[in-house]
Amino acid sequence: MTTVAPALPLLGLRITAGPVELRGVTDDLIVPLAELASAGIHDPDFMPFFKPWSLTAPQEMPRSMARFHWGQRVEFSVDKWGADLAVFYDGELVGAQGISTHDYLITRTGETGSWLSRRYQGKGIGTAMRQVICAFAIDCLDAEEITSAAYIDNPASLAVSRKCGYTANGRERRTRTGKRAILQRIVLEPANLVRYEHELTVDGLPEFRRSIGLDASVKG
Ligand SMILES: CC(C)(COP(=O)(O)OP(=O)(O)OC[C@H]1O[C@@H](n2cnc3c(N)ncnc32)[C@H](O)[C@@H]1OP(=O)(O)O)[C@@H](O)C(=O)NCCC(=O)NCCS
Repeated sequence: MTTVAPALPLLGLRITAGPVELRGVTDDLIVPLAELASAGIHDPDFMPFFKPWSLTAPQEMPRSMARFHWGQRVEFSVDKWGADLAVFYDGELVGAQGISTHDYLITRTGETGSWLSRRYQGKGIGTAMRQVICAFAIDCLDAEEITSAAYIDNPASLAVSRKCGYTANGRERRTRTGKRAILQRIVLEPANLVRYEHELTVDGLPEFRRSIGLDASVKG
């Protein structure tokens, strides 16, 4: 466990399920994640993300990745927390899987988002890591709903959502790189989760639960 976990239990969180491991992004993971992102996540003419962070120049990516994760650490509070976790598969860093929330103690809902470096796509890893974060949120954090969204021209993301048990939850018109794009919203009811074949083991759970206001009265 990282020595800084008492300051921010997110950094000591480690969720394992068979070959999949989701881990809090400690400083030693920031540059490797930046290099992985710069190796390519999608075609340059297709933008899957709301903010086009993946187009950041490779020389700027480490700083950009650090700003994002350091910002999440600073902003982490009971009222608004996000857990963007590094994903390892068979011990190899492959991408990131996140969940973000607002007023979680009241809403009990979180929005998932993820990416894999291209060479790891299309092998079932995206489905496995989403099944793991959803099971973690439902079983370990008492989530009552999980949402996500993808542009309708992102079949891989929508297929992963469908395979995990999410169902359609309306469409929105968005602006994407200066043009109109249609966003498909999706929602997962806990009873519909299609679970990963491996059980979850979680390190740092009691501390993480307390840090988001579960089990104790932590002021945001
Ligand atoms: C979305 C992402 C995380 C999915 O991870 P992955 O490991 O590639 O996904 P999986 O291999 O588990 O499953 C992909 C599914 O999409 C399907 N798929 C992929 N491309 C497709 C296409 N062009 N048309 C139809 N289905 C497609 C695959 O067939 C597979 O479904 P199946 O197992 O039923 O055959 C990954 O592709 C990625 O990082 N994409 C770029 C970033 C991104 O889009 N993030 C999400 C933003 S909303």
